[in-house]
Amino acid sequence: MSSSDGARPQSPLARIESNSRLDPIASTVQRAIGSALAALGPLGRPIGRFLAGTFQSHPLHVDLTDIPSGAWTAAVVMDAVAMATDSHSVDAGADAAVAIGIVGASAAAVAGLNDWHVFKQEERPRRVGLVHAGLNVAGLALFGASFVARKRGNRAAGRLLGLSGYAVAGLAAYLGGTLVYRERVGVDHAPLPEDLPEKWTAVLPEAELPEGKIVRREAGGSPIVLVKRSGRIHALADQCAHYGGPLSEGTLEDGGIRCPWHGTLFCLKDGAVIEGPSAFRQPVLETRVRKNQIEVRRTGIA
Ligand code: FES
Repeated sequence: MSSSDGARPQSPLARIESNSRLDPIASTVQRAIGSALAALGPLGRPIGRFLAGTFQSHPLHVDLTDIPSGAWTAAVVMDAVAMATDSHSVDAGADAAVAIGIVGASAAAVAGLNDWHVFKQEERPRRVGLVHAGLNVAGLALFGASFVARKRGNRAAGRLLGLSGYAVAGLAAYLGGTLVYRERVGVDHAPLPEDLPEKWTAVLPEAELPEGKIVRREAGGSPIVLVKRSGRIHALADQCAHYGGPLSEGTLEDGGIRCPWHGTLFCLKDGAVIEGPSAFRQPVLETRVRKNQIEVRRTGIA
């Protein structure tokens, strides 16, 4: 729509978010990533958890992106210093920084694609994530070409390619920020500890919790799920830590509860991630039975 008819022109970001022509490409890429992970067989679970960052309880991708950001910034600064001083004393440093950035960006791409490939229903994260990934691949290719040109002695071309790669990677980083700060991808969506009851709170008569069924209840204003398994009662926050899906609509398997949205399997006992994509544990609550009532409270209360 043109601005002459009074409507404000769409921003580039809004055009990406509303561009349905990106969807078939996203589908193809996401299917290919899913197939590659499935081909890993039993190793798929631990590798997927590692790439998601469950070992450190936040996404690995964001840590890895610091490597190319820092290294490529250093390379561009050293190139500028070399040109300003007409000196070659920092050329070797600039070349090394380009190479370190390439290694870091490649690792970040693998972790990022692992995070993104599960977003199949969410249009905006899916489309913005695809363009973010495409720009990062383009930036990586430009820095790869820059490295080759430098090694062949064509330093002027190497510097120009590096500067171009830096600009493209900067656009990609902007979209990455949009995914986190606007779409809240990679953010813990589970309730905060203070949103769960500190005092023992009756939530359900024990007789109304059958073995092997998921029952949703409220505790201190927060939705929770109750599950009885092998006679033991488990309670977890209902809102999935990964992206806010309802665990109460999930399924029980392998001693865990699987989220219906992207399939994270959380351990019933402690909320640990058995299978990704969540980087975050699911909050669990302590349970007890008093006067035939199931009572819960948040963990860590002395
Ligand atoms: S919302 Fe993504 S796995 Fe639960």
